[in-house]
Amino acid sequence: MSQAHNPKQVAGYAAADLIQDGTTVGLGTGSTVWFTLVRLADRIAQEGLRVRGVPTSEDTHAKATKLGIPLATLDEVEAIDLTIDGADEIDGEFRMIKGGGGALLREKVVASISRREAIVVGPDKVVERLGTTFKLPVEVVPFARAVVSRAVKELGAEPLLRMAADGAVFRTDNGNEILDCHFPEGIADPEALELALDAVPGVVESGLFLGLAQVCVIGHPDGRCEVREK
Ligand code: 5RP
Repeated sequence: MSQAHNPKQVAGYAAADLIQDGTTVGLGTGSTVWFTLVRLADRIAQEGLRVRGVPTSEDTHAKATKLGIPLATLDEVEAIDLTIDGADEIDGEFRMIKGGGGALLREKVVASISRREAIVVGPDKVVERLGTTFKLPVEVVPFARAVVSRAVKELGAEPLLRMAADGAVFRTDNGNEILDCHFPEGIADPEALELALDAVPGVVESGLFLGLAQVCVIGHPDGRCEVREK
């Protein structure tokens, strides 16, 4: 009988093998990317792979530093060859909801200067319509929380202020708050919604990632790894 595998590990490890010598790599955030970091550190040690990583969160910065992965800041880097990141939902057109870990803003900035973005997920993250299994995170300036809440309600969502485990209001690495927005019917038109959210004063960034990924690496519980390219 075949042993059950962790889909996150299968995808995370496989994506690390896409990294080429001498390149700049965007390092995403989350529990799937963790496996990419581990495998990348292993390749650096075993193969002498030369890379510099650009982390998308304080969490990834700390983990990569501990693993001995050389890092660079956006001041030192103009373009990124390949970014490997996770997702909370991804559809057939590689449109995504991200931000479950609260790193959406930095993740989107890094994605925006990446020549290629590979997304690592388990099969549970692949959806027909965005917003059906996960709330859309919207990062807001604390001052504007009430204003943005009213605006997203007008757009058909039920916003919920994200709280941290200790009961305090969750703060992103940028000192902002997150409204997790539930769309009862899912998101019918992600492009129109992104434009509408971007137009609300006080919205810093939404977790809609559209047209940013070219590769989707799906790990399966039977150990298979599926690589879809756009
Ligand atoms: C963080 C993210 C993560 O990439 C996303 O939440 C997926 O995380 P995980 O791999 O732990 O399921 O967008 O802001």
